[in-house]
Amino acid sequence: ESGKLWGGRFVGAVDPIMEKFNASIAYDRHLWEVDVQGSKAYSRGLEKAGLLTKAEMDQILHGLDKVAEEWAQGTFKLNSNDEDIHTANERRLKELIGATAGKLHTGRSRNDQVVTDLRLWMRQTCSTLSGLLWELIRTMVDRAEAERDVLFPGYTHLQRAQPIRWSHWILSHAVALTRDSERLLEVRKRINVLPLGSGAIAGNPLGVDRELLRAELNFGAITLNSMDATSERDFVAEFLFWASLCMTHLSRMAEDLILYCTKEFSFVQLSDAYSTGSSLMPQKKNPDSLELIRSKAGRVFGRCAGLLMTLKGLPSTYNKDLQEDKEAVFEVSDTMSAVLQVATGVISTLQMPFRQAHEASGKAVFMAETKGVALNQLSLQELQTISPLFSGDVICVWDYGHSVEQYGALGGTARSSVDWQIRQVRALLQAQ
Ligand code: ARG
Repeated sequence: ESGKLWGGRFVGAVDPIMEKFNASIAYDRHLWEVDVQGSKAYSRGLEKAGLLTKAEMDQILHGLDKVAEEWAQGTFKLNSNDEDIHTANERRLKELIGATAGKLHTGRSRNDQVVTDLRLWMRQTCSTLSGLLWELIRTMVDRAEAERDVLFPGYTHLQRAQPIRWSHWILSHAVALTRDSERLLEVRKRINVLPLGSGAIAGNPLGVDRELLRAELNFGAITLNSMDATSERDFVAEFLFWASLCMTHLSRMAEDLILYCTKEFSFVQLSDAYSTGSSLMPQKKNPDSLELIRSKAGRVFGRCAGLLMTLKGLPSTYNKDLQEDKEAVFEVSDTMSAVLQVATGVISTLQMPFRQAHEASGKAVFMAETKGVALNQLSLQELQTISPLFSGDVICVWDYGHSVEQYGALGGTARSSVDWQIRQVRALLQAQ
């Protein structure tokens, strides 16, 4: 006997290179907790179906808790025969509680087990990523609100087009992210469907109550067809596409900011906390955080395209190719989590040289009001008592102010419309 879960009919040893090639434990160990969770639910299902006695079920549940405890405390010892997380946990359960452990897998296959685990894991990840995404959106809206009087050149074709409010620019990116957030909820809905009880391909022969399993694991629905359930990875592809589109938005925002913090644009300054310097050229402040956000987009797209290519040539039902889905999911989840947090940090600490100008123009408005004259009637000398920033081109500034206020239709850059946008996004935030 080879000592493997499936070793019964095998006499020859597996080539060590193949052994390593075949194993997924190096990464699917991340699923330890959901694997235990799924197994606990399944053992309850077996007991209800009369396939385990209450005592056997309790023994299994207790053993599984022990397995989880070992993982949580970092004392779980893998051995060289552990091919994946499912075989590792079952091997350990057997060591802990003896032969009863073998009954846990009755009617279950790793094919329905692995996809149940992955869905459980991704469901949790969607909630985490959704929280991080909203955190970023909130940071952006806060900034948009605080700085809505700052004017800014708007570009098309990277050529100066029309003056806009700085807040209008921030909101243009925030609004795209609200769609990502909505999309993630949709993806989560389709992740939240239970395949357990589908067996290897044909279903469960033991009359396990799948509705009961669904309730145990708090899924929204059960899958309809066992052949489809064990092999479809639409929910993984959708998640990777969600991440890809979200990264497109973040990468575009990063690209804008990379330009805006060059000497040539000089609109914003990246905080030291998110930049690096050059040992050779002390004047430099490199926007590494933003460049990495931009580059991670490529990595995420690669995972999405890679999975689709893996899926496209497969015949029906489970094939080992599907084992490759997990690295994509783990890597993209980690990447998204890091990118969203860094983006939040970058936005919240961005400095604006415009703030000074903003303050000065605020004082000018006050002066005009006190004198009972229109803003453009203040003389240059009067303005220069407020700030040396005022110079001969001040007339232009009042023109910009006038210009942005023309775009009052909802969605435009006038103050009233920017305020409206802020209220809309805040309402979405509140609904979270
Ligand atoms: N580690 C495997 C995977 O990730 C588990 C399923 C194995 N099933 C099988 N029939 N060999 O897909």
